[in-house]
Amino acid sequence: MTATEVLAEAGRRRTFAVISHPDAGKSTLTEALALHAAAITSAGAVHGKGDRRGVTSDWMDMEQARGISITSAALRIDYSGRVLNLLDTPGHADFSEDTYRVLSAVDAAIMLLDSAKGLEAQTLKLFDVCRARKVPVITFVNKWDRPGREPLELLDEIEQRIGLRPTPVNWPVGIAGDFRGVVELGTGGEGREYVKYHRTPGGATKAEEERMDAEAAAKTEGGAWDQALEEIELLGEIGAQYDEESFLAGESSPVLFGAALPNFGVGELLGTLVDLAPSPGPKADEKGGERPVEAPFSGQVFKMQAGMDKAHRDRMAFVRVSSGRFERGMVLTHAATGRPFATKYTQQVFGSERTTVETAYPGDVIALVNAAALSVGDTLYEGPKVVFPPIPSFAPEHFAVARAKDAGRYKQFQRGIAQLDAEGVVQVLSSDVRGEQAPVLAAVGPLQFEVVQHRMAEEFKAPIELANLDYTLARRTTAEDGERLHALSGCEVLRRRSDGELLVLVHNKWRLRVIEREHPGLVMEPLLAGGVDTGE
Ligand code: G4P
Repeated sequence: MTATEVLAEAGRRRTFAVISHPDAGKSTLTEALALHAAAITSAGAVHGKGDRRGVTSDWMDMEQARGISITSAALRIDYSGRVLNLLDTPGHADFSEDTYRVLSAVDAAIMLLDSAKGLEAQTLKLFDVCRARKVPVITFVNKWDRPGREPLELLDEIEQRIGLRPTPVNWPVGIAGDFRGVVELGTGGEGREYVKYHRTPGGATKAEEERMDAEAAAKTEGGAWDQALEEIELLGEIGAQYDEESFLAGESSPVLFGAALPNFGVGELLGTLVDLAPSPGPKADEKGGERPVEAPFSGQVFKMQAGMDKAHRDRMAFVRVSSGRFERGMVLTHAATGRPFATKYTQQVFGSERTTVETAYPGDVIALVNAAALSVGDTLYEGPKVVFPPIPSFAPEHFAVARAKDAGRYKQFQRGIAQLDAEGVVQVLSSDVRGEQAPVLAAVGPLQFEVVQHRMAEEFKAPIELANLDYTLARRTTAEDGERLHALSGCEVLRRRSDGELLVLVHNKWRLRVIEREHPGLVMEPLLAGGVDTGE
């Protein structure tokens, strides 16, 4: 293995996720991307035919049947000499802390918007995490084949609401609902080519594209063409040109218009991803240094999954490779314990398929089987030691008190809760008032509670009862202010066991505002650096 080989392989990779609100078309787009890149030959190969939610839901159903239900799949798409790793961000009812953690493992994100709806709640939450990490975001405005909003209005919403400067790389010709094609604006002010789309029945194959110059386009599209040109001129005036520096800093976002279902503009999106999204770079370590991509192997666990195979009660660790070349069978060092970790069983998981991974490079995701010793955030390495900073915990919005159903199994109860806390399945909080036997579980999605309940009963043989608490927000506070806050009504102060952080839980944002107004100066900080506050 040479450093040159690793650098070349890393350079070919684009590791990204799609952030969107349920129903914006993430499954459809995933399929279209894979299809367009010819990773699969027919639309039915990834999703069950007629079930466009198949990419995640086949897997989900299987998990649910077994009593556990979260998953994250990594899809590898080979395209134009590049390797695109698409990491799935679970949505819908399976939204959990893992959804956020996936974003700690990507180098770029596609923000997928429904053209009729614009920015929606879950997109905003996920975008906040991207912003905190300064992840470059490419925006894809989907469903342009249906009636929707004005393109300029959508751009304005992006800029006004999230402060991300939109820089269109293509511009739609024809209003939403009467989509004719796109003008390619390019990213460097180069030529304006018109790409006319011809609908393909069912979107089952790559949509037919017809390229033409401005003159031919004007003849074909008439008024729609003129209007597009007027809008493009306006874009020029307001300075909406692509700018690499601000894109890579997460401050501006290339925007594309298209429609995933009939496969309009998906090729442009792939091209944009390949051309503009960054390949894996050096990763900051705990000590303020960096692990270059060509250094010996290192990677970080960003997700743990338990019980995928109940018969073996295995635990799988999803690792994003940061540096070096991974080879199956390597013996790595587990930074947290200093112990060796054998990687005999390594898989790539997508949908319900598992294939064995033999080699992997920076940007790839590997799934390590029998990984009970590992936890979310752990570093594995070869050669010189490296420890990556922990993955931040996110602002929980759901809180419940856990109690052992059978007091005689208290020891097992304590062990189970501690284990699930260490794995990052749920955040565990406690206070003197509530006592050790009644910890408060905190989650970003209620599904995390289901997983805890299931594993406590099945794995630790200590079934629990959960009583939901009427809080929706958590803020960080100090010991001194914590005491004052604890005395107020509508909130409660607890300590997070994993890092000792003092959190104040509040019923809702209205109550929070009242407290802030009546007691100015009390420390109540949002939980994730960078102003991210997913609790509102
Ligand atoms: P999700 O994973 O983000 O939740 O969304 P999904 O892909 O399941 O898409 C949600 C709905 O939007 C689906 O319709 C899908 O067909 C539709 N859709 C996605 N992209 C486009 C697009 O570009 N144009 C149009 N017109 N529709 C799109 P559904 O009615 O819920 O399901 P189905 O019965 O059509 O499969």
